[in-house]
Amino acid sequence: MSVESKVRAVTTLRLTEMKSRGEKIAMLTSYDYSMARIADASGVDVILVGDSAANVMAGYETTLPITLDMMIYHASSVVRAVNRALVVVDMPFGTYQGNSKVALDSAVRIMKETGADALKLEGGEEILESVNRILTAGIPVMGHLGLTPQSIHKFGTYNVRAKEEAEAAKLVRDAHLLEDAGCFAVTLEKIPAALAARVSDELYIPTIGIGAGGGCDGQVLVIHDMLGINKEFSPRFLRRYADLHTIMTDAIGRYVSDVKAQEFPNEQEQY
Ligand code: KIV
Repeated sequence: MSVESKVRAVTTLRLTEMKSRGEKIAMLTSYDYSMARIADASGVDVILVGDSAANVMAGYETTLPITLDMMIYHASSVVRAVNRALVVVDMPFGTYQGNSKVALDSAVRIMKETGADALKLEGGEEILESVNRILTAGIPVMGHLGLTPQSIHKFGTYNVRAKEEAEAAKLVRDAHLLEDAGCFAVTLEKIPAALAARVSDELYIPTIGIGAGGGCDGQVLVIHDMLGINKEFSPRFLRRYADLHTIMTDAIGRYVSDVKAQEFPNEQEQY
């Protein structure tokens, strides 16, 4: 099926309906075809091609180095795999901040070259002009508030954000600005659960939390973290649903032993 002829079951409107009837939204990241196929077939509602690809796929320490071309490569691989879920792509650092014309050009490139459904941008008031310009082109936008990893050099740490009253008040204001602008959802990363619940109550668009508690309208995790492929990253909010690191290490170790012992391939495994 071509990208153009695909009509996915989950739309931005459907997410708002899910919020209205109290059905929680399950979002996970994916960065490649094989993982996205499994996530989609498992019933995930939204697949995020996160710029966390910089960390988990490319081994960078922050998300800043990932480029527009790299995100387009990851996103187009994911889109080819997905039939049901809404595919949202992170706009990478430096492609939308500061200049809304550049933001629109970057957004149009991602949409044209990947066939994705929507984009995610980090920030509130500071990036509102870019958000507005992208929305004007008919491209759905998800906001991202709280811990915004592209601003790590401003924050200095990956600690919980908006614990202080002033920052919490700005976050609430930003959430309303994004909703009023026309964003279809907002990701809330690593903020106090009570604040996330308040924002979720006040907005009619869904909130998707990561480290923001059960009061959000949906949850998102990085797929490599929740499958236990990465062992190094263990924040409190992360629930590991599998230990693929152990399973994969064991399987690869047995393959290496079999090759060395000349036990692979056997008679049945050759022509
Ligand atoms: O890049 C990413 O994976 C994200 C999620 C953590 C929300 O933005």
